[in-house]
Amino acid sequence: MFEQQREDLQLHVKQLATEALQKSDPSAWFEVLYSKAKEDTAQIPWAKLTSHPYLQDWLTNHEPFASGQQALVIGCGLGDDAQALTSLGFEVTAFDISPTAITWCQERFPDSTVNYVVTDLLAIPPQWHQAFNFVFECRNIQSLPLNVRSCVISSVAFVVAPGGTMLADYSCSRHRS
Ligand SMILES: C[S@@+](CC[C@H](N)C(=O)[O-])C[C@H]1O[C@@H](n2cnc3c(N)ncnc32)[C@H](O)[C@@H]1O
Repeated sequence: MFEQQREDLQLHVKQLATEALQKSDPSAWFEVLYSKAKEDTAQIPWAKLTSHPYLQDWLTNHEPFASGQQALVIGCGLGDDAQALTSLGFEVTAFDISPTAITWCQERFPDSTVNYVVTDLLAIPPQWHQAFNFVFECRNIQSLPLNVRSCVISSVAFVVAPGGTMLADYSCSRHRS
């Protein structure tokens, strides 16, 4: 992508996020962005169309026992991290607040066994309590404002099974109040 296009996209994202914050609905802009993109992945700044390198490294280095283990991908975006986990043998649930993103995942990976669902991280289904042996969270918490983060962190902790693993990437943390 050209530098000018990248800057335009960043500006667009910033405007959407600011408007959503002003309406006290900090996650609302994600659906707007995904639906306006009209399946053009270049319009989604975090879409790399491959699993996150941090997840790939961790999986390579730790070789977790995956067969039949329940995994959850939080704010799954376009689904590449979920696909990496299912390819290892995890039974994967992946969710996002954006219905368009979830439809996009299902269209990108029509034969996938991943259970892609629309769910709000701030309204986790009670049946997910301690239900997942492996939980991956990447670039979601830091995309939300500070005033909802403790709630979000509680939601994430709620889903990890006793003795389970939660892997989170905060490497590109942004702070919004
Ligand atoms: C910065 S993107 C990161 C996407 C993906 N994890 C990645 O690393 O490519 C944040 C994702 O979280 C989703 N999201 C934002 N707020 C959410 C919420 N309250 N519940 C579930 N997903 C949410 C967005 O729709 C978006 O797909």
